[in-house]
Amino acid sequence: MIKSKSWKWEIVDENNAKCWRNPAIESYYLINRWKQQDKNKFLDLGCGLGRHSILFAGNGFTTWAFDLSAYAVTRTKEWAKTEELAINCTVGDMLQLPYDDSQFDCILCRNVISHSDTEGVKKILEEIFRVMRPRGECYVTLGSKNAWGFHQSWPVVDENTKIRVENGPENGIPHFYADINLIEKLFKKFEIISVQHINEFINDNELHSVGWHWHILFCKH
Ligand SMILES: C[S@@+](CC[C@H](N)C(=O)[O-])C[C@H]1O[C@@H](n2cnc3c(N)ncnc32)[C@H](O)[C@@H]1O
Repeated sequence: MIKSKSWKWEIVDENNAKCWRNPAIESYYLINRWKQQDKNKFLDLGCGLGRHSILFAGNGFTTWAFDLSAYAVTRTKEWAKTEELAINCTVGDMLQLPYDDSQFDCILCRNVISHSDTEGVKKILEEIFRVMRPRGECYVTLGSKNAWGFHQSWPVVDENTKIRVENGPENGIPHFYADINLIEKLFKKFEIISVQHINEFINDNELHSVGWHWHILFCKH
């Protein structure tokens, strides 16, 4: 399995960091959905600068924020303090989560689990399964084989994984890409609730595609 590597958030300038402070659109849907289901214990897996931790904690969820980047976790902690929100912040590797079995009602893991290879993604999904309560739900996004990155001549790790080579916070980080057949296999242990295939653009002074991703909502039986 490839060694994990965090994002280098330290080099993301304040202008670009702005878009990483606005919650993703689906997070509002998930808050509504999970409140209606009386879910409360929420894990922001791969929290980055903490945009979803802050949103969920502010909406009454008991929130845990977790990331491999100590810098990102410190930024999340500082933001939580400013907002006077209690968030349990931890630095660690998603390949081995420091949480109890069945600890969480709901998990959001946006553009995170693709930062490993095929063996790693399988291990992370096992960890997600372990820490989810029965009938717990999780929303993940995964890189798609339609994405530009999968077709670059970057170093190959395995048939689904390349190492991104470019200047920026993701330099040297593994990127895993899936198609729908692989998704069916990877999520066999779960019940899939919905799958979307989305080409997302972010506005960092100009519209800029972050590529095709799978958005998958699933639950543990
Ligand atoms: C694209 S950012 C997304 C951040 C956040 N989910 C968001 O939507 O704002 C990916 C995050 O995954 C984290 N990450 C990468 N590999 C990780 C690992 N093995 N364990 C925990 N976090 C990891 C990175 O450090 C980075 O903060």
